[in-house]
Amino acid sequence: MSNLPNQEASGKATAATAAPDRVTPDRFTPPARLADNPTVRRIYELKRELNAVILAHNYVLPEVQEIGDFLGDSLGLARQAAQTDADVIVFAGVTFMGETAKILSPEKQVLMPTLDARCPMAEMVRAPQVLALKKKYPAAAVVSYVNTLAEVKAISDVCCTSANGIQVVNSVEADEIIFIPDRSLGEYVQRHTRKKLHFAAGYCPTHHRVFADDILRLKREHPHAAVLVHPECTGEVIDVADRVGSTAQIARFVEEMKESFDTFVIGTEVGMLHRLQRDHPELTFILPGPLVVCPAMKRNTLRRVVDCMEKCAPEITIPEDIRQLALGAVERMLAVT
Ligand code: 13P
Ligand code: SF4
Repeated sequence: MSNLPNQEASGKATAATAAPDRVTPDRFTPPARLADNPTVRRIYELKRELNAVILAHNYVLPEVQEIGDFLGDSLGLARQAAQTDADVIVFAGVTFMGETAKILSPEKQVLMPTLDARCPMAEMVRAPQVLALKKKYPAAAVVSYVNTLAEVKAISDVCCTSANGIQVVNSVEADEIIFIPDRSLGEYVQRHTRKKLHFAAGYCPTHHRVFADDILRLKREHPHAAVLVHPECTGEVIDVADRVGSTAQIARFVEEMKESFDTFVIGTEVGMLHRLQRDHPELTFILPGPLVVCPAMKRNTLRRVVDCMEKCAPEITIPEDIRQLALGAVERMLAVT
């Protein structure tokens, strides 16, 4: 088996659509394999009492992934938050994801297992820095990754996720873009657009613990493995990858490539392995090193899920003027992809 061409070398940009988020068929009945767990049973009782839906990101702990009604990437979960008919959204993820849900669905109560689940990258670029960049590049449009605070979305022209960054940037009329906060994602997008991107210094501490050397070693040890990585990884890692995409896109690449490969090196957070291994027990998934862990995502424990549902707290709140401004940027993104 030979490696597939690198996405950059082939010039093929990842499509944002058709992400295979995992969806539980019945929101109010615990799956049989979990029905003996009293905490899980209580969560399902509370779901019914509150008319709640649980959105879980692909990086949360395995047992929390298992009770998610939807398990997906930032884009897929934002779409679910916009569409759900539940009264309460329980968001097992990081706070910018809960904020995006609240921006889209202000009439719903958005609960989080803990407000301490904060993505460090989302706090690396704040509103004053964005305003300074706008002053420096007055002709540029601001494209902000959803990994930002609501105050930054509120002064952005449009948001993007790792699934649709290329399409969003190419959809913007301006030829110059201020791309914040993730420089690695921005540099990846720059490979696929003629527009001129200006960056800030944000980065994901977790994805920067994926090293090209480790991937090259794994490729030597497993010559028939395919390498799938997240675009928050450094350019050196992206250079040695076969495919680059969001967490849901990585799940889709496995579906598409499983006839040709039985081993996959996964350059993203460890939580992704649970989902992939569960969906494909016959395949081998390898993480490049033991350190690719997002501490914020791991703060979402099953105990905290049940506690937040019992107490209806903590809850995401956003000042209405900020929410309305941020809504424009999020809606413009959803209109593009
Ligand atoms: P995805 O949108 O790919 O799930 O990524 C979110 C994130 O925070 C990656 O670190
Ligand atoms: Fe933030 Fe990185 Fe964690 Fe994603 S993996 S939530 S970007 S710290």
